[in-house]
Amino acid sequence: MTQTKCLLLGVTGGIAAYKAAELTRLLVQEGIEVQVVMTEAACRFVGPATFQALSGNTVYTDLWDARIANNMAHIDLSREADVVLVAPASADFIAKLVHGRADDLLSTLCLARECPLLVAPAMNRQMWENPATQRNIAQLERDGVTILGPESGEQACGETGMGRMLEPETLLEDIRANFQPRLLQGKRVLITAGPTFEAIDTVRGITNLSSGKMGYATARAALEAGAEVILVSGSVSLTAPARVKLVSVTSAQEMFAAVRQAVGDADIFIGVAAVADYHVVNPSKQKIKKSSQSLNLQLAPNPDILEYVASLPDGPFCVGFAAESENFHQHAEQKRRDKKIPLLAANLVQDTLGKDESELVLFDDSGVHPLPRAPKITLARQLIRHIAELYAKSRTVAQFKKNQAGK
Ligand code: C5P
Repeated sequence: MTQTKCLLLGVTGGIAAYKAAELTRLLVQEGIEVQVVMTEAACRFVGPATFQALSGNTVYTDLWDARIANNMAHIDLSREADVVLVAPASADFIAKLVHGRADDLLSTLCLARECPLLVAPAMNRQMWENPATQRNIAQLERDGVTILGPESGEQACGETGMGRMLEPETLLEDIRANFQPRLLQGKRVLITAGPTFEAIDTVRGITNLSSGKMGYATARAALEAGAEVILVSGSVSLTAPARVKLVSVTSAQEMFAAVRQAVGDADIFIGVAAVADYHVVNPSKQKIKKSSQSLNLQLAPNPDILEYVASLPDGPFCVGFAAESENFHQHAEQKRRDKKIPLLAANLVQDTLGKDESELVLFDDSGVHPLPRAPKITLARQLIRHIAELYAKSRTVAQFKKNQAGK
């Protein structure tokens, strides 16, 4: 976790308040200072003593708390927070936020805060689907509030549907994301991800086992770091993070065309895709019929997208990936030199394809940097930090050279 400071957890009246207790435990475990503020209705579901024991801090519930010397609990608490998370956020509390009402401690400090506000709605399916709630959620998003969830599932009222608060582990992941340093603020990052599919006929083709997980995690980590992200993706069964500009492609040639179109504006290019090295010459326009004859496919090489981008004059800072099946230290460094790129991330193919976790080794001019086994999102965040550092250095060197040439 990066320099984590203080999270103000607002708990409002809903049965999911019990999940906020578990979330408090996870946040504290993560090293985050948690200050809990509860509404009166929340106290009917879980007692303040539970949150006090879990957070190790006094729980505030009252705008007129006499323990605060200046009688400005709302100002003091909101000033100390780096982020405010309301979880669970009831339909009523969401409506209050929309109107900027301030009739209790939590709503007042939400209004008085300057830090980001995250809201995790929790309510019954009909309440969530009600046009009033939907209007309110849309308005909060327009106001710059981040809405986390809800998700669909079994509800306390016995129904099944949208409105369940996200699980504490998921909320923790969202909070981690929110705390990432904005190392690529304002930068444009172009990423390729997933496999390519090279048609043999109208229904068959040559592809590979890339799941796209590392590429999508990299896109998410770049977004968290403040970048504008274009993700050129082969066919995968993943949902692209919101705010990413997704360009879906099938073949390597389509991926190449999409990259060529977007690369002019990019500051950084990260080739995570497993691009097929060959395509089928003249794929059949009809489904090929079975016969007893042998079938020969003629394959022609595909363009190397990464090599193309790396060779562009004034092109973006380039990062490659290499999945090797053996001896990857040797092969990876050779690949980095062949492709003339400043950074290459390598792993063992059998260790990563389709998996949620992996190990990476980064190769750059200063040497070898192993990133131990971790979920791909964790690796992606470490990779993005490394990229941001090298990118900043490369810009300083480029500027220096420009200045020297101009003298
Ligand atoms: O040479 P190899 O395929 O192992 O290199 C892998 C790296 O090159 C990855 O970053 C991949 O996205 C990129 N690549 C590419 N176009 C190709 C082949 C690989 O961009 N045709």
